[in-house]
Amino acid sequence: MTEHNSDLSFGVDIGGSGVKAAVVDMKTGEFVTERLKIATPQPANPDAVAEVVKELMEEADWNGPVGITVPAVVKNQITRSAANIGGDWIGTDCQELFRKHLGNREIAVLNDADAAGLAEVAYGDEQARSGSVMLLTFGTGIGSALLMDGNLYPNSELGHLPFGHTSCEKWASSAVKEKEDLSFKEWAKRVDQVMHEYARLFSPQTFVVGGGISRKADKWVPLLTVEQKVVPAQLRNKAGIVGAAMAVRDGFRP
Ligand code: BGC
Repeated sequence: MTEHNSDLSFGVDIGGSGVKAAVVDMKTGEFVTERLKIATPQPANPDAVAEVVKELMEEADWNGPVGITVPAVVKNQITRSAANIGGDWIGTDCQELFRKHLGNREIAVLNDADAAGLAEVAYGDEQARSGSVMLLTFGTGIGSALLMDGNLYPNSELGHLPFGHTSCEKWASSAVKEKEDLSFKEWAKRVDQVMHEYARLFSPQTFVVGGGISRKADKWVPLLTVEQKVVPAQLRNKAGIVGAAMAVRDGFRP
């Protein structure tokens, strides 16, 4: 598969446990290859992860532009944080890193939740397309994306907002649900508290809730009491990949 068809783009989503990728049809937001996945190398240092991205590109037989998400703040294409990924990502120039491993091509690197936000407003629920939207992804951490009429304010990092004696993500991520063996009811109560805090500070019109646990949205979304509309993410585990593919197509390089 090559870049000759300009409707196609390639997205890579780097997560704590897996690096996932696919060729995406930008007209529909659908995958045209299967979702490829390689376990995140441990330790997840930049060179080891970039090598995995190269393997995924080869597996997909892709030789065009590449969009890549990282679970970190990205400013001027430099990763500035590393909460759930190896510490040596901090200060990494991602253009330089990925060019070294993937060769000279167009590359765009952005935060994983920001990518999911871009994808959901473009291809997801109608209600997320306009107005002020806060997308939250519940996984190892809590990722956030702030959007207004489809435009992104990048690097919001609301998972790290202080909450009581801890932080929102240490209180209510889905990893915490697992670790503390919380029932959906117990966990939803925590998520609800966190979302009330976000609502108080940002007053979004709509929340979009994503991450793996949005597959079971019926078990917890109905328990939330915020006054905003709460829409389960539609693209599920595709959102990061699709958003990355969009970013490189659109020349979006935070
Ligand atoms: C990171 C964010 C990321 C989120 C979800 C947080 O710990 O700081 O950059 O978006 O996890 O992966």
